[in-house]
Amino acid sequence: MRFRPKLTVLGTGYLGAAHAACLAEMGFDVLGVDTDPARIGALGRGELPFFEPGLQPLLRRGLDSGRLRFTTSYEQAAAFGQIHFVCVGTPQLPGADGADLSQLRKCVTTLAPMLDSACIVVGKSTVPVGTATAMADQLARLAPAGSAVELAWNPEFLREGRAVEDTLRPDRIVAGVRSRRGEEALRQVYWQQIEAGTPFFVTGLATAELAKVAANSFLATKISFINAVAEVCETVGGDSVLLSRILGADPRIGPGSLWPGLGFGGACLPKDIRGFGARAAELGAAESLRILKEVDAINLRCRGRMIGLARDLAGGSLTGRAIGVLGVSFKPDSDDVRDSPALAVAKAIHDLGATVTVYDPAAMGKAREICPELQYAASAVGAAAEADVLLLLTEWREFCDADPRVLGKAAAQRNIADGRNVLDPDLWRAAGWCYRALGQPWSRQPTHCETDSGGSARGGLPIVSG
Ligand code: UGA
Repeated sequence: MRFRPKLTVLGTGYLGAAHAACLAEMGFDVLGVDTDPARIGALGRGELPFFEPGLQPLLRRGLDSGRLRFTTSYEQAAAFGQIHFVCVGTPQLPGADGADLSQLRKCVTTLAPMLDSACIVVGKSTVPVGTATAMADQLARLAPAGSAVELAWNPEFLREGRAVEDTLRPDRIVAGVRSRRGEEALRQVYWQQIEAGTPFFVTGLATAELAKVAANSFLATKISFINAVAEVCETVGGDSVLLSRILGADPRIGPGSLWPGLGFGGACLPKDIRGFGARAAELGAAESLRILKEVDAINLRCRGRMIGLARDLAGGSLTGRAIGVLGVSFKPDSDDVRDSPALAVAKAIHDLGATVTVYDPAAMGKAREICPELQYAASAVGAAAEADVLLLLTEWREFCDADPRVLGKAAAQRNIADGRNVLDPDLWRAAGWCYRALGQPWSRQPTHCETDSGGSARGGLPIVSG
């Protein structure tokens, strides 16, 4: 019989709730802990406070089996857990690039004085390199069990929208440890994945911390690289979608995170590139990561280019125009609107004097909280109704499959700007739409675009055949 350590998950936000439910699914006894009683109440009733495909049944199964429980009590957690996973949020500091570690500090200073027997504390939150070592020293100082409390670092690579799959069947597992004991603890947790052949990398604490921010920074760099190429495509008549496919066919480059469009957002990539750069600067290595400033700038320019495209299609000005928006979450299959490029564009267009009507399959509630000034429709057709221009900003399946004839009947004018390069231009043009997309050659735009929209702001640029 295999030894199954009792596990706690401290912090039941997005990462923690997914991790706790998946650990229970893997057969462990798990106690989820959070200081927010409303969140703990909801999770205990089997209600997920966010949208994540496939997670709800796991939560339910865990609760029904008795293996998964939730509490607000750190005392209970300290008494229960043999391995404690720390999953609290580390958001960007308001008004600065660095990470706000206050939740992490609170978690450690609350838990440590209650640890009076041997256990392992495993950090999963994304942190500036060096945090883990400082945390290990703090645990040794504050925990009554002293050196019997060991720290390990096990960064999380799950993507929103694919949290269950990424947790149960990860690409790799990183075990940042200080001793054989820490490594063995993580092997006990992830034995199923290790047996299934998942690469298991044993590292020191610093390498484990860096593995996460370096991975996210590389993904962000790939996305911004193709979007920088897309900017050039727009001026010289190249096709960034074809280029993405051509580059991605090279196995050394690969197609992932290389799709041109409105760029990256969410709670991870933007804050991680800023946090990594800020930490490097603190360490006297600002030059080494200067590239990430450019990655950020290219990414934010995507939003400006999208607004420019909408303005072109609206005839040169957005003031007084009706704009329909499909999608406000930062990516499909998520209701997360944190640093969402789609919501930022919708809001900016509203601020330029347009009436903006949005629809999103999952993120309406969260978007409304942040941007009550926008109009909210009950369907894609509702967002398109009477619109002068329709913008596709998040590539939900439902929008990719939408019938342009149906949306065309609702719209005031058939102008569509595809911010994610997911629609079939021929299909939309055949249904009478003027189709434009980010990073697409001007030469492929039919002439009626210019006529209908009253002329393009960038109409004077040279057109070179793609
Ligand atoms: C990202 C990483 O992919 C995960 O590995 C990591 O664990 C997670 O951050 C985290 O730090 O917690 P996530 O933010 O869920 O995951 O989203 P991604 O799928 O990486 O997409 C990020 C953004 O890039 C989205 O706004 C998406 O629309 C955009 N994107 C993605 C592109 O613009 N082009 C692409 O080709 C791919």
